[in-house]
Amino acid sequence: MATKSTTKFTANDVPSQRGRRVLITGANSGIGYEAALELARKGAEVILPARSLDKANEAITRILQQIPAAKLTPAVLDLASLASIRAFAARISSEFPGESLDLLINNAGVMAVPQRELTIDGYERQFATNYLGPFLLTALLYRHLKRRSGTRIVTISSGVANQAKIEFDNLQSERAYSPMFGAYSQSKLADLIFQQELQRRLTASGSPILSTGAHPGYAITNLQTSGPAGVLPLAMRIAMTVLKPFASQDAAHGALPTLLAATATDVMAGGYYGPDGFQELRGDPVPAKIAPLAKDLALAKRLWTETERLVGVQFTP
Ligand SMILES: NC(=O)c1ccc[n+]([C@@H]2O[C@H](COP(=O)([O-])OP(=O)(O)OC[C@H]3O[C@@H](n4cnc5c(N)ncnc54)[C@H](OP(=O)(O)O)[C@@H]3O)[C@@H](O)[C@H]2O)c1
Repeated sequence: MATKSTTKFTANDVPSQRGRRVLITGANSGIGYEAALELARKGAEVILPARSLDKANEAITRILQQIPAAKLTPAVLDLASLASIRAFAARISSEFPGESLDLLINNAGVMAVPQRELTIDGYERQFATNYLGPFLLTALLYRHLKRRSGTRIVTISSGVANQAKIEFDNLQSERAYSPMFGAYSQSKLADLIFQQELQRRLTASGSPILSTGAHPGYAITNLQTSGPAGVLPLAMRIAMTVLKPFASQDAAHGALPTLLAATATDVMAGGYYGPDGFQELRGDPVPAKIAPLAKDLALAKRLWTETERLVGVQFTP
């Protein structure tokens, strides 16, 4: 469990982002939106890909109402489609060639899809959206990240990673499908393993780029309503209802671990951040517990290799 914060990190502590170009997925909603808003407030130019141009533009309109001078680029990206990711990466390459990005935040996600769904590529929807898509996106955009300190790749995981496991014979839930504690949890553990393994590989290659991670605790966003209604086990639904009034936080607070991981000057290489309260559900952002499986080097190596095969790309940072 995280230790209590002594110096509180707030959105005001985000250093100036002037001159920095940020790409954040899932920024039309929830913690991604709040993170994009604060980064724009501090002067970052923000690329906001969403599943439709309308959704991206709607988020941009909301941000501009607060920050009229913000520089924001809408785009279309469906992380559940390898072709969409490739098309989006190609657009970034032509519109922002060379080493053009300072920060990539892999934030978008879906939770507890009621029935097992396969993507157009034949992969389970949560594993594809939450993990395979961000892996491919990072691999394709890696050459556009500036080779200098301050450049970061931030991957959003979840507290449920602590209870998860990686089942190589059930990565696509082909053997059994459990929306929350199977598929979703596995995808978020895979995110954490990726974030940690990416840092190891960046370090080994002498890269100054950092791979950091965060989880928002229990933040009230569209995640709870767009996915799981009615599919969570009864005990989980009761626990969430009971916990909500005193163990949840709003999306703006949920975005603080992301903002810390993305911008604080004193983050650790491979640092992973979450709230400091009970069970890391709410509170001020501090270093979070890293699930023991996310420290398993052999598991990380195997998952990386298998992921390269699934997304059809070799990623050598
Ligand atoms: N809220 C929590 O308590 C909590 C806890 C642990 C971890 N997290 C993680 O935090 C991240 C953000 O979630 P949130 O709580 O802010 O939820 P949210 O409000 O539902 O936002 C999720 C975002 O991901 C986007 N998204 C979903 N599927 C996508 C796809 N196929 N391609 C591209 N974008 C897609 C959504 O777009 P649409 O608007 O089109 O659906 C939305 O913008 C997720 O990775 C989630 O797993 C959240």
